[in-house]
Amino acid sequence: MPLRGAWLRCRPGAAVAVAAAGPGPGLGAQGSAMEFPFDLAPVLGPERFCVVDQHLRPAGRGGGGGAEREQQLEQRLRTVIDELGKASAKAQGLSTPVTSAARMESNRHVLYMLRDTRPPRGAVLGFLKVGYKKLFLLDQDGSHVEVEPLCVLDFYVHESQQRRGLGRELFREMLQRERMAPQRLAVDRPSPKLLGFLDKHFGLCRPIPQVNNFVIFEGFFSTRTAPARRPFPRPRPEEPIKPYSLSERDFLREELEPPWPFNLSRGSPVRGSLRPFLPRRDPTAPTAPEPPPRRASSLGRVGR
Ligand code: ACO
Repeated sequence: MPLRGAWLRCRPGAAVAVAAAGPGPGLGAQGSAMEFPFDLAPVLGPERFCVVDQHLRPAGRGGGGGAEREQQLEQRLRTVIDELGKASAKAQGLSTPVTSAARMESNRHVLYMLRDTRPPRGAVLGFLKVGYKKLFLLDQDGSHVEVEPLCVLDFYVHESQQRRGLGRELFREMLQRERMAPQRLAVDRPSPKLLGFLDKHFGLCRPIPQVNNFVIFEGFFSTRTAPARRPFPRPRPEEPIKPYSLSERDFLREELEPPWPFNLSRGSPVRGSLRPFLPRRDPTAPTAPEPPPRRASSLGRVGR
């Protein structure tokens, strides 16, 4: 089948076509998405949604075929994940992908992929990556609390498919499978498109300002099914407190710098600042304590 769009070499023996918009062979009137030079059904399973965790073995994928075949399927899955990560990074203007097969293996994240399952090979329409992370967040009173919420870490729908409801489909599937309410999520440095998306589909429009890269919304701390809260921990002698959790995207930074928004004067190589979410200062209110300067030794990953 001739594939439309630009061919991109990724790994030896593997290539992916990021197809141009418009209907194409096997993809019908819906338009196109990310096509690969192999049938995606054996790699991702037969369903429209494919869920992958650190074991890189989609739930719906059948076994059999021997070790060599298994190895080939895993290699193809790695190609798919790596290419999705690259496409998402490109769409967000990131210098390095936040999502890759290697990063999936070394973290307890969950990747939801949405597919066009139509033959002969199918295509990937988009993906959403989530994971639990330990974060120190400010509640509405400005108090620090340690929580471990489910975080939205990476989200991408192919350019030719955006604004057709596919992002909502992916997000809803994730919420259902994770048994999660949208206001309980923390979002890692959301793009303007994602902020519009969360407002439109889930009414998340009132952020609670934070000093790290995460955004949470009103309702996150409400008491009924509140996530586990712990008081700000005292430093243990053997381990300094890590007051600002490492964002998924922080590894993209080229140099050490204080967390957002204290880095605003220096600019961020990752993405534009979230200035709209800076706390509005009430001149009569006591000011929140300034964070200590970040030292390399205190930048260890505190999430999972
Ligand atoms: N400009 C502004 N808002 C947009 C755009 C856009 N180009 N695309 C989607 N949205 C928002 C709008 O609110 C839109 O509603 P509208 O069309 O009535 O204005 C709504 O999303 C559409 O909802 P869906 O069709 O369900 O969402 P979609 O399939 O477009 O997926 C997504 C949303 C994933 C954010 C997609 O736009 C995308 O891939 N964007 C580029 C990558 C990106 O920014 N990802 C988020 C990075 S941050 C992170 O992952 C933590």
